[in-house]
Amino acid sequence: MESILLTATTSNIPLPRNSSLSSLSFSSSLPNQVSTKVEIRRSNKGTTKAPRIVASSSGSKGRAGKGVSANVAVDGSVVAEGVKDVSWKELQYEEGSTGHRLPLPTDPDTEKQMEYITNILGSNVYDVAIETPLQLAPLLSTQLGVNLWLKREDSQQVFSFKIRGAYNMISKLPEKQLKKGIICASAGNHAQGVALSGQRLKTKAYIVMPTTTPQIKIDAVERLGGIVDLYGNSFDEAQKRAKERSEEEGLTFIPPFDDKDVIAGQGTVGMEIGRQIRGKIHAIFVPIGGGGLASGIVSFYKLVYPDVKVFGVEPNDQNSMAQALYRGEIVNVTDIGHFADGVAVQQVGDETFRICYELLDDVILVKKESISAAIKDMFNDGRNILEPSGALSIAAAKAYCEYNNIKGVNVVAVTSGANMNFDQLGQISDLANIDQSILATMLPETPGSLKQLTDLIADLGVTITEMTYRFSSGSTDALVVYKVKAVDSALETLVRQLNFFGFKTYTLSDNEVVRNHLRFMMGGRQNVENETLFRFTFPEKVGALKHFLKDFQPNWNVSLFHHRHQGILTSDVLIGVQLEKSEEKKFHEYAKKVGYQYEAISQDDSAQVLAKL
Ligand SMILES: Cc1ncc(COP(=O)(O)O)c(C=O)c1O
Repeated sequence: MESILLTATTSNIPLPRNSSLSSLSFSSSLPNQVSTKVEIRRSNKGTTKAPRIVASSSGSKGRAGKGVSANVAVDGSVVAEGVKDVSWKELQYEEGSTGHRLPLPTDPDTEKQMEYITNILGSNVYDVAIETPLQLAPLLSTQLGVNLWLKREDSQQVFSFKIRGAYNMISKLPEKQLKKGIICASAGNHAQGVALSGQRLKTKAYIVMPTTTPQIKIDAVERLGGIVDLYGNSFDEAQKRAKERSEEEGLTFIPPFDDKDVIAGQGTVGMEIGRQIRGKIHAIFVPIGGGGLASGIVSFYKLVYPDVKVFGVEPNDQNSMAQALYRGEIVNVTDIGHFADGVAVQQVGDETFRICYELLDDVILVKKESISAAIKDMFNDGRNILEPSGALSIAAAKAYCEYNNIKGVNVVAVTSGANMNFDQLGQISDLANIDQSILATMLPETPGSLKQLTDLIADLGVTITEMTYRFSSGSTDALVVYKVKAVDSALETLVRQLNFFGFKTYTLSDNEVVRNHLRFMMGGRQNVENETLFRFTFPEKVGALKHFLKDFQPNWNVSLFHHRHQGILTSDVLIGVQLEKSEEKKFHEYAKKVGYQYEAISQDDSAQVLAKL
């Protein structure tokens, strides 16, 4: 149970991608399914340079990126030495737009592709996984003017596709290895896939999870017979422990995505889509974390149905595959976001990169708001709740069809998971309201001015959905921050009218810091000197704030603090600190030592926001 505590403090105490192979035919059958016969013919051959892989991630030791000492991924990669550090901000493009990756090579390794397809067709997944339905989303289809088909991987027993890859790999282990046991590091959907596979194959499944893992995730794994080993404060530490135990105890390490059997298992999703859909598909949208699911689906599709576009989807601030395909090399995204924690992977796998580089049409980037709106759409369409990673594909399908004005075709979105962290629903519901805007109005501190403002907004036919106002003493005007049901031209008209009638009004919706933090803060404006805003990613664990403040200097005064829970393992924390110029370097050194991912909000942004609030 959570409680809200209100504590008064004294003001100055600081707070915290042809081979020579040209033709192939095979047949396969799935349980309860009619046999499938596939004939593949290829003749074109060309030459393109192979993608550049700077360093191999397998078996390397994790290490910290810029200002990051902990890989806060849930099923993330191990960050390898020698891989270039980048920020997600270095590659941003419009939602729904494509054509950003390096051109597709004309000479993909078809032999390897053939191997994948054979492995996909021979995959052992149906002992535990179901063939999930491919359902039409009626409301969304009407809204978009296309047939939007949802491949419902969220309806698996473990509420995600992850069981396919894990079970396929584990079931192929030699008897001797299986007897010894299996191990993985995961606080996410991979953990549940490995636990259930262990239970079915009667082997001990050890799941190493960071100590910060919420009880609900631990319980889910234990219910499936997994033996949980809580270790370390970050994914990196848990991963290191799992690898060590694997070597010392002879347990087989089960990777979350960068393995050919895991990829083949996930590829069965593509095989099912191919048999389930009636008619031609224009495009398939697949979420990407480490790239296992996308690699499996694209391997099947590009060989069997080469005209179908396959797009990967990532959150715009979790763009490790988009960056890799854009640059032609694997990179380490040091400041990944965590909103869609299932896909929060700093660095994609070697094999998944190779496959996606050779075959994937592009990666579509989507924002939190669009992911949240997609969760709402799914709820409205069928009363189902998806986790953010699970809804990425819907957000991308919508954005792609709208941006490119695509109508009358079949598109498929893989809804990959429903392991929603219930605590995140509030934030999602808030972000989903993309038909609303945030405004700030300077209100003259005279009797009746609030009524005048609200009357004016009502007379303009606009609904207010949220309002924060606090009397400001010692100032001639007060600040009202509020949300209105108005966007685009309706919003422009409203703001123009309010300004015309003397209410100085600003649109704040585009500012993420305002949207996520500042709009919840009230208490009257202050002139805060030398204030710098920082955004930290705190681990969700006892003592996180205590650790942050441990050696905090008395002359770094905390002037603002707002904490917002995000994903499974982390919180997004906005902190204002009054810092003399001479103290800045020292403060950054301290922040790096603390080890939480952080960034300073740029002077431009903070100056602009703070001038208004
Ligand atoms: C719900 C969900 N969707 C998508 C993904 C991404 O899968 P991959 O890492 O194979 O790209 C994951 C990964 O765990 C997931 O849990």
